[in-house]
Amino acid sequence: MAKKKRSKVWAARFGKATDQQAEAFTASIDIDRRLGRYDVAGSIAHARMLAKQGIIPEEDGEAIVRGLEEIGEEIEAGRFELSRELEDIHMNIEASLREKIGPAADRLHTARSRNDQVATDLRLYLKDAIAGVLAVLRRLQGALLDVVEVNRRVIMPGYTHLQRAQPLLFAHHLLAYFEMFDRDVGRFQDCLRRVDVLPLGAGALAGVPYPIDREFVARELGFSRISENSLDAVSDRDCVVEFQAAAALTMMHVSRLAEELVLWSTAEFGFIQIDEAFAGGSSIMPQKRNPDVAELARAKTGRVYGNLMSMLTVLKGLPLAYCLDLQEDKSGLFDSADTLLTALEVMAAMVPGIRVNAERTQAAASESYSLATDVADYLVRQGLPFREAHGVVGQLVRYADERDRGLSELSLEEYRRFSPLFDEDVLKLDVRAAIEARDVPGGTSSRQVAAALKRARKRLEGGKR
Ligand code: ARG
Repeated sequence: MAKKKRSKVWAARFGKATDQQAEAFTASIDIDRRLGRYDVAGSIAHARMLAKQGIIPEEDGEAIVRGLEEIGEEIEAGRFELSRELEDIHMNIEASLREKIGPAADRLHTARSRNDQVATDLRLYLKDAIAGVLAVLRRLQGALLDVVEVNRRVIMPGYTHLQRAQPLLFAHHLLAYFEMFDRDVGRFQDCLRRVDVLPLGAGALAGVPYPIDREFVARELGFSRISENSLDAVSDRDCVVEFQAAAALTMMHVSRLAEELVLWSTAEFGFIQIDEAFAGGSSIMPQKRNPDVAELARAKTGRVYGNLMSMLTVLKGLPLAYCLDLQEDKSGLFDSADTLLTALEVMAAMVPGIRVNAERTQAAASESYSLATDVADYLVRQGLPFREAHGVVGQLVRYADERDRGLSELSLEEYRRFSPLFDEDVLKLDVRAAIEARDVPGGTSSRQVAAALKRARKRLEGGKR
């Protein structure tokens, strides 16, 4: 932070200087400095419009644009000096412009307020943030599909209540995450439609008494529409909440995937190995190989939830129109966007390096009576109502469990003690057959999974959902 001393634009109305603590408390420059490039872009579009409409002299407009472009370059190069007395990024840029071009700078803030200015900057930022999130979400989805492809024949136990339930294709399990992230993509795309609205022109709250051309500014800045109501335009932060909510949901999905990777990489499961480059060691236990990245991805979900709750709370009960409370929208938004982006990026980098222990997963799928439903379904095909079949197999499992034997270790004679409907072929039931039998749309048969993978690839490539 530079020590450069500049006075506040509103100083004229006050008899004394701002209290230092008050100044430190209310300044937002440490946070909103990130809006610099958007503020410059917004101001350039505004200045061009003012000149085009004859609201400011042509040559002042040109000087303003030139000065702002210079400031934009300084910002990109990290050379732009900021001072805290000037509160925020908007006032810092305006002050710098005055130093660069002189009195012409004083015309820039015609027909504009910081209230519609910051709302515009925020939406420009959000549009970029959403584009970034969408790109990396697509990358993560692509990484998942690659792992699906490589492991498409791998069998694993499916779980309910974290108890082995029915055999699955590992590919089917991972494709479930593809779907989750696809819905996340949809939510961000949907959020983008409501972000893509230009607030500038709302003024402080009531509109401005100049013949401005809002559509022109919208076109210059790449907004699809202009806002309908000036009060709403300066006080609406729904799109921040929507972004936060979509980020929270996406992080929830990230954390569920992360949790499974953590579980699967334990000695107890032994289903996968996470690449060493994404694991951590212990300072005391030499043998450790901890799933650090997955654990932190899981944990960072918490702060994104927190940011959503904090934004909702800031907005609750806030009267129209702008209140400085709204300044609190940015820190949580930036934090959520950064957290989400880095979590998605590191997951997308880690996922391709996952190695699956197919022998282990298949063995696990064959244990623990995970074919019991299939034995019941066998009896149903022999004519028994499902509920009855369920009862018969329940007794059968209990019998085997008491003897510490698997269903495949029982003889046909033993099966027949529980129902005369059992025949030789019941002994042929295995995990592969159980998987292939579930050949319904959305099911785990290899035919369905291959088709699902193909559709997923198409959706990903076509950018369609
Ligand atoms: N720093 C403020 C924000 O982030 C900009 C708008 C300030 N407007 C005002 N009337 N104080 O919201």
